[in-house]
Amino acid sequence: MKSIVVLISGSGSNLQAIIDACNSGAIPGKVNAVIANKADAYGLVRASEAGISTQVLSHKAYQDRDSYDLALIDAIDQYQPDLVVLAGFMRILTPAFVQHYSGRLLNIHPSLLPKYQGLNTYQRAIDAKDTEHGCSVHFVTEQLDGGPVILQAKVPLFSDDDVASLAERVHEQEHQIYPLVVRWFCQNRLQQRADQAWLDGNVLAANGYA
Ligand code: GAR
Repeated sequence: MKSIVVLISGSGSNLQAIIDACNSGAIPGKVNAVIANKADAYGLVRASEAGISTQVLSHKAYQDRDSYDLALIDAIDQYQPDLVVLAGFMRILTPAFVQHYSGRLLNIHPSLLPKYQGLNTYQRAIDAKDTEHGCSVHFVTEQLDGGPVILQAKVPLFSDDDVASLAERVHEQEHQIYPLVVRWFCQNRLQQRADQAWLDGNVLAANGYA
């Protein structure tokens, strides 16, 4: 049974999908702690309701990114995680943090990476008149939203979509692919080797498992 720590900043719907998959046995792991940088993150309520330890570590209490990330490492390592999952954790992480969890740090991003790294991905896709959008799960490296992609899901983008309708369609897919990737990791099927993601001994294509 793998030990998982999840970091959040907001609603925690991806956290919920992962908790549910642990509870159903689909993921051979347990979320041992949920840590948020914001006290009002609704995901903290979800975690408490699931009987999971929670902690708020506000970045506002720290002078700089380095000291915050060191405190975050201390908080996370109390739970001796095999895997650290970023689920809507809206912070840029320092190289020291990323290196500390190298190979066991996952993120989900609301775009078909490498397209639309950074923020406001839905609005950017709508403005560009794209006909499809999606989400990507990737290993985290020092390059922001640039680590090796493991799995992506595509959705159609319709001409009458707004951010809310597109986000809803993407979220549905996120809740499918993130638990699946966490399952693979906890089954020891998934690895990061340098700048590549490997599943069952096969390297995944640059834009993930198709
Ligand atoms: C998710 O859509 C995730 O892709 C996004 O935050 C949302 C969190 O939702 N992450 C990022 O934008 C990271 N750059 P949730 O709190 O309901 O899981």
